[in-house]
Amino acid sequence: MAQNKTIGILTAGGDCPGLNAAIRGIGKTAILQYGMTVHGFVGGYQGLMNRESVELTERNLSGLLTLGGTILGTSREKPFKKAVAGSVDDKPEKIRKTFEALGLDCLVCIGGNGTQKTAWKLAKEGLPVVGIPKTIDNDVWGTDRTFGFDTAVDIAVEALDRLHTTASSHRRIMVAEVMGHHAGWLSLHSGVAGGGDAILLPEIPTDLNKLAAFLEGRAKAGKTYSIVVVAEGARFPGDQGELADTVSGRLPESAGRFLARTLEAMTGIETRETILGYIQRGGSPSPTDRILATRYGIAAADLIAQGQYGRMVTLKGSDIASLPLSEVAGRLKLVTPDDPLIQAARKFRTFVGDSD
Ligand code: F6P
Repeated sequence: MAQNKTIGILTAGGDCPGLNAAIRGIGKTAILQYGMTVHGFVGGYQGLMNRESVELTERNLSGLLTLGGTILGTSREKPFKKAVAGSVDDKPEKIRKTFEALGLDCLVCIGGNGTQKTAWKLAKEGLPVVGIPKTIDNDVWGTDRTFGFDTAVDIAVEALDRLHTTASSHRRIMVAEVMGHHAGWLSLHSGVAGGGDAILLPEIPTDLNKLAAFLEGRAKAGKTYSIVVVAEGARFPGDQGELADTVSGRLPESAGRFLARTLEAMTGIETRETILGYIQRGGSPSPTDRILATRYGIAAADLIAQGQYGRMVTLKGSDIASLPLSEVAGRLKLVTPDDPLIQAARKFRTFVGDSD
């Protein structure tokens, strides 16, 4: 069913594997199914404001399925964030002008929480938008899964598998710090899949004395090494928590480094840390993420063809659905203490926060 609609696509926030698969899913469906014209904006909302775009065609959409990163580039630009008082830089107006200049019938915003919140604000301004949930953190409200998450778990587990052998050779405690921002999804899933003996999440407080006693107990029971998986957002009472940088919110010392030196001091067991960092956002997407990103892209193009704007596509179980952006914006999906994976891990005495 041909529609002479013109659409835009942008990728915003932290990059991750699967972004190009999503761009390909939207673009190919829009062009081949609906005869639409597709523009890609460079650098997220920055490119939208500055009208920096490239037309996407069957030709330049080819070969994207397996390619990591985003061909459009990304940024963390927040157009509605209050600029310096009195500045005349009206970013939302610039965005409106871009819509008018290109005759956009809809804009697809691929990103995490911040991106979807901005998309919702654009929708409130009366602009037609559709959201696709993306982030390795898996913390976007309303969807079971964001693309990027599965690949990041694969990468973290591969690293944890390697840490087991060196920990065993040196009889050490190895602390692995995993990304996830304020959520513990990545740490929980990679910790269980990677055989973590302790899994520390932002959502569940950790008593360092209990953790130290747990690790000492393992050593006394003849376990020659331990693997501790800690979410970068985990916070511990004591000198690490209160020193958060007032501007970036970042601690002067990462959770992993703080934990390694503290546990070594408390237990007397040689301890080292590995900060997995941006490795978790690099490289080619897993097959699962390729499929999810493609399904999200197709669903977004279908919503546009149906004239259903102001919504974000979602995964519920194995089905693709969608939600109003108003229900997603400003909310965070966090791990709850009753999560089945936490209960499962505790069944074989994995230390997950303040588990008695
Ligand atoms: O949101 C994805 C993410 O990788 C988080 O896990 C991490 O805390 C953050 O981005 C890092 O942000 P930046 O790429 O701006 O350093």
